Formats: sequence, structure tokens, C-alpha cells
Amino acid sequence: MKRIVFPAFALVIALVAPTRNPAVSAGPPVHEVQVVAKKYTFEPATLEVTAGEAVRLVIHSDDTTHGFAIKKVKVNVVVPKGGQQVTAEFTAPPPGRYEIACSEFCGLGHHGMKAELVSVAPPGGPTSR
Ligand code: CUA
Repeated sequence: MKRIVFPAFALVIALVAPTRNPAVSAGPPVHEVQVVAKKYTFEPATLEVTAGEAVRLVIHSDDTTHGFAIKKVKVNVVVPKGGQQVTAEFTAPPPGRYEIACSEFCGLGHHGMKAELVSVAPPGGPTSR
């Protein structure tokens, strides 16, 4: 009986888990991006995503405590000093450019600590998926 069940189970896994990342064991693939916060910039300064896709940002600070906020997708996380990683997950918004801003006071350059989220239409049309 196990011989019959196993192939079906394996097929389901193959269908729902196209990624090999064990952290993503179910659901569609997630576009993961590493982000570094450092006085007074974010690296990369431009995050390009595809409208509608699931995005996971893994953010850490190279110096002091910063914040990472994208109002449009209701992301606002504290990025602690010490290099601890924090994650922020959201669905990429409709095509356009959205401001990313530091949301924790971090010094004289705080108000200028910005980056940009650029969402582009998926290939094959703006509403595919
Ligand atoms: Cu970095 Cu405020």
C-alpha cells in the first residue's frame, strides 16, 4: 500500500514546492532579497519586483538601529543594531515606484535615508496570474 501512496505524495511535493529552499515548503515561490541598512542608505537602493509576486525581504543593519518602511504595502519593521536579520513579507503592488524610508531615527541623515521599490508588470501582460 505504501508503494501506491508514495508516488502520489512525491508528485504533490513536486507540484507545490518548485523551490528547494526548505523554508518555503508550500505555496508559490517567493522572491527573496537581501537588504543592508547602513547610515544613511539601503543596499540595494532600488528593489525591483514583479507586480503580484510574493516578496520576502531579509534585512539587517551594518551599524545602528534603522527602520524599513514601505507605506504602500504596509511594511514597517525595526532593523536592530548588531546585525540581526529581520524579514518583511508582502505582495508586490501594482506596477509603479514606491518610496522606501527609514522609520527609526538614526542620526542626522535619517530623513534622507531612502530607497525605492520598483514594481514592474509581469511578462505576458499586466494581469496574468
Ligand atoms: Cu536609518 Cu533612520
